[in-house]
Amino acid sequence: VFPTQGAITQHWQSWCQKAAPSSLCKCLLCSSFHLSRVEFVKLAATYSTVNLGQGFPDFPPPDFLKEAFSRAVSGEKHTLHQYTRAFGHPPLVKILAQLFGKLLGRELDPMTNVMVTVGAYQALFCCFQAFIEEGDEVIIIEPFFDCYEPMVKMAGGTPVYIPLRPKAPKEGKLMSSADWQLDPAELASKFSEQTKAIVLNSPNNPLGKVFSRGELELIADLCVKHDALCISDEVYEWLVYDGKEHIRIASLPGMWDRTVIVGSAGKTFSITGWKVGWTVGPNRLLQHLRTVHQNSVYHCATAAQDAVAQGFQRELERYGKPDSYFVQLPRELQQKRDQLIQSLVAVGMKPIIPEGTYFLVADISEFKSEVPDVPDSDEPYDSRFAKWMVKNKGLAAIPLSAFYCGAHKDNYNSFIRFCFAKVRHTAGLHPSGLAVSTLHGTQGKNWGFFCTNKCSEGGEPAGGHKLNSWC
Ligand SMILES: Cc1ncc(COP(=O)(O)O)c(C=O)c1O
Repeated sequence: VFPTQGAITQHWQSWCQKAAPSSLCKCLLCSSFHLSRVEFVKLAATYSTVNLGQGFPDFPPPDFLKEAFSRAVSGEKHTLHQYTRAFGHPPLVKILAQLFGKLLGRELDPMTNVMVTVGAYQALFCCFQAFIEEGDEVIIIEPFFDCYEPMVKMAGGTPVYIPLRPKAPKEGKLMSSADWQLDPAELASKFSEQTKAIVLNSPNNPLGKVFSRGELELIADLCVKHDALCISDEVYEWLVYDGKEHIRIASLPGMWDRTVIVGSAGKTFSITGWKVGWTVGPNRLLQHLRTVHQNSVYHCATAAQDAVAQGFQRELERYGKPDSYFVQLPRELQQKRDQLIQSLVAVGMKPIIPEGTYFLVADISEFKSEVPDVPDSDEPYDSRFAKWMVKNKGLAAIPLSAFYCGAHKDNYNSFIRFCFAKVRHTAGLHPSGLAVSTLHGTQGKNWGFFCTNKCSEGGEPAGGHKLNSWC
């Protein structure tokens, strides 16, 4: 319908001006992340041969899940083609209650402590719509997943931002996402009479930070002290590396009653397109989410829920065992992470080692001689760097400043985010799985994407050629 991106923006602008208060107009359109994300997706499609910007796996989901979906749609049970229970297909809420009951060490009622949503995105939307009223403040930890800010504003709330502050790594060591920490006094200063909730995202997108028990206790104590809710986005709960433990804040003293856990089958089983998510929490909170859900989406796709339920059944039976997908997936992703770290170091970036998720943030400040900064520019340096990289090196990534509020963008503008859940571009570019460096070349001007497969084309440099569609 819309011939260009500009036409979409124009349509929304005129709609917002007519139909919405100016604060809503601002949140939908002036949030630079939304504009820059659209811009970056477009740029990636136009120029990039290697897209490590977008946050989804380029490998297939596990066979057991695909088979479960096939059975659901082609089996005898024709009811799976019809509406199911509005707040979650019974087999799915039952298995989620069983699994999370085990993880949280408490008995959960599938009907009142679990609600299925259209991905974690809708779960988040339900939370903000249900709990946030005009004048409420919501604390958001930066860098943050982009939708929190507009969703809080759409509900009439005011986001209050607190950045994770990086501390210098040990001499000669790469920084870790664990080096990005909250300042306890600063965090305490953000809580006020108006604080309704804090949004916690651990493991965190984009940094890959996995909050430690001490950090979670700090947040929990403040929530209890100020009677605040915790919206705990745990979509990357199974993607944790180097033996780190994902701790659920709802399991800490005083937190179950004030926490809603948000989860995603998309991230859990590498099926982002199925859009199955959930919330887990006390009935006193979930009853309000049910009201929002019932009056917006109401039902989620039955067959997809059925297949996800079967996937969880399988995982529960194999919990902690080597053939569990929850064990295998992080093991494979950790290898891709390490491969990407090596490649980035080789071209002169300074990767921040993520403890979790499939994202990695790299420091690009060394590139200022190659891609000079433009003083007084409105555009953050990382955004210009990412555009330069996609045009000149054929590589797409997302500037980290896009994950900060307008006031803080310029403080964190020399980093870019990569997604390493990409088989072809991190482990091997050719479907045959031949070893290929993602970023191959000598440090300095010559780096770029070169295929080291023995394919018939090219020959530059050092045994490789520039990527092309064949690769
Ligand atoms: C932190 C975070 N929360 C929520 C979501 C949304 O998940 P879903 O695809 O299940 O809606 C994402 C997706 O990228 C995410 O990174």
